Amino acid sequence: MIRKRFPILLILLFTVGFLNAQNMRKLIKKQFEFADKQYKILQQHTPENRMPKTYYAKDNKWETSDTHWWCSGFYPGSLLYIYENTKDTFALNEAERRLKILQKEDHNTHTHDLGFMMFTSFGNAYRITHNPLYKAVIDTSAAALSTRFRPKIPAIQSWDSSKKLRCPVIIDNMMNLELLCWDAQHGGSKRFQKIAELHANTTMKNHFRKDYSSFHVVDYNPETGAIIKRVTAQGANDSSAWSRGQAWGLYGYTMMYRFTKDTAYLNQAKHIAHFILTNPNLPKDLIPYWDYNAPNLPDAPRDASAASVMASAFLELGQYVDEKERKQYVADAKKIIRNLSSPEYRAKLGENGGFILKHSVGSLPAHSEVDVPLTYADYYFLEALHRYKEWYL
Ligand code: GLY
Repeated sequence: MIRKRFPILLILLFTVGFLNAQNMRKLIKKQFEFADKQYKILQQHTPENRMPKTYYAKDNKWETSDTHWWCSGFYPGSLLYIYENTKDTFALNEAERRLKILQKEDHNTHTHDLGFMMFTSFGNAYRITHNPLYKAVIDTSAAALSTRFRPKIPAIQSWDSSKKLRCPVIIDNMMNLELLCWDAQHGGSKRFQKIAELHANTTMKNHFRKDYSSFHVVDYNPETGAIIKRVTAQGANDSSAWSRGQAWGLYGYTMMYRFTKDTAYLNQAKHIAHFILTNPNLPKDLIPYWDYNAPNLPDAPRDASAASVMASAFLELGQYVDEKERKQYVADAKKIIRNLSSPEYRAKLGENGGFILKHSVGSLPAHSEVDVPLTYADYYFLEALHRYKEWYL
């Protein structure tokens, strides 16, 4: 009996799998076509020498930034994903126009965010166009970032010293290691990768709690490497789990495994994934509140940017684990993508100031960018769509 049914079951499973893939293919295509149109609206509201930042619907007000801002790479990066997936040369030309104003940041040694700024932009541009000028910008940026390495800690200094913090290292900084590792593996100094590994090891040792949630900021004495304090800047409190910080850690350690094949990084990423996915305060739709320990749950704002970063990271993590784990991570990423693509999170054409996603949080404690669109929410959403299409369809 079972033997007779076996081929029917197989055909059924195959058909369900095929239809699911078809649905995702359609959904991804639709999102890129939408993004292409929507970003033409965003472009009209972004002066030529500026980058988009956010939009306040209540006042119909756009906020833009200069190229120093840590998010200046995301707009050209998003346009490049749009171009890659729609072949609309408008997106490529607009990205290349913005790269011209961003290029000067390749000598900026006052920010650890050069990875965000220069690799989401020039990294994608070089991957797609192979233009050697873009490679030169990446090389220079990696060298500039490496100057912030403090060997006594050893780690890269995130923000410059202030009255409150002597040598702060933030969990977000894990993301900037991609620029260093990629450059080291594409003709740049091998020292860049060494720095990235030392930074990742120090962060693994000092930023994480027993449950694999992470502190936002660890402040060090750069002369001795001693920890001064562990605090938050953007989280609910010093011991809370700020959602985007957890997502940066998840993405960062997954990416470090890509470059090193060091299983310590892979295990770290899996532990972070476990913390996120089993957290009792993670809503069923997998779009986190801005902090897993926000004071007014369940009435706290959600953070679509954290969800986008998580989706993209889960898709990469799915590449490095066994089949059972892969299925789970991909299913979770798919759920996030579907929910972010729903009217609750994805804007309608012409709304949301031309941004793709609604409902992100920049810094709630600073009352800045609360429940608004953000360039990085869009960027990692597009990256997740692209990764899903490239790896799982
Ligand atoms: N510092 C980057 C962030 O707000 O996540």
